Amino acid sequence: MTSFTTKTGIILDIRIASVYDLTAIKKLNEKWTVASLDIVDKENGFLYCDSYNEVDLKKIIEAEEVAIATNNGQVIAYYINDNYSNLVTDYKDAIKKLKQEGTISPDLKVSLRTQIVVEKEFHRMGIPVAMLSFLKPLLKLKYDLLFSIGINENPKRIAHQKAGWEIIYENDFNYYCIYNLNPNE
Ligand SMILES: CC(C)(COP(=O)(O)OP(=O)(O)OC[C@H]1O[C@@H](n2cnc3c(N)ncnc32)[C@H](O)[C@@H]1OP(=O)(O)O)[C@@H](O)C(=O)NCCC(=O)NCCS
Repeated sequence: MTSFTTKTGIILDIRIASVYDLTAIKKLNEKWTVASLDIVDKENGFLYCDSYNEVDLKKIIEAEEVAIATNNGQVIAYYINDNYSNLVTDYKDAIKKLKQEGTISPDLKVSLRTQIVVEKEFHRMGIPVAMLSFLKPLLKLKYDLLFSIGINENPKRIAHQKAGWEIIYENDFNYYCIYNLNPNE
């Protein structure tokens, strides 16, 4: 566990999620999931995908690859690295293709899917970067790269890039990005 003080002086705890956090993580995940892009308020971001079910979320959490940030004991953010759910099929296929065409070196170990959520009132406080810094030493033991697929219409795409994620492919609808866990190797 580590402590993180935001620019505005709020003290948060950042730690690896346990199964006791499952309900809170699930709630945050569902809160930001949209069924259609036809929504009015996009400015704070959204998740345009299926929500995690409890069984998958448990597997992901038990792999100890999820960081959460808490404020007064409440989960206010998560950084999910998902290599176990039923939602990674498209990600696996995309990575396979990127390796075949040489965009990603075939021998690199890639964590399949990253999803980041922060409660609205805690946005723009650098919490995603703080969670990633905490997770990095652990993830580096297993992976070379993190991978994510974003939707172009998400105005929070910029936050990914500011945090060091690199866009390696994009089309009219979405973009693929990677985070290099071992930039100097
Ligand atoms: C995406 C999300 C995790 C980003 O977290 P955040 O707390 O909003 O943003 P950060 O503090 O990480 O922002 C880092 C930088 O990105 C840029 N940025 C973020 N939001 C921005 C905005 N609305 N306009 C312009 N720049 C922005 C800024 O440079 C910011 O640094 P600064 O605040 O010091 O200027 C958060 O907005 C969220 O949970 N949204 C809902 C779910 C979602 O869209 N998840 C992404 C799918 S993986």
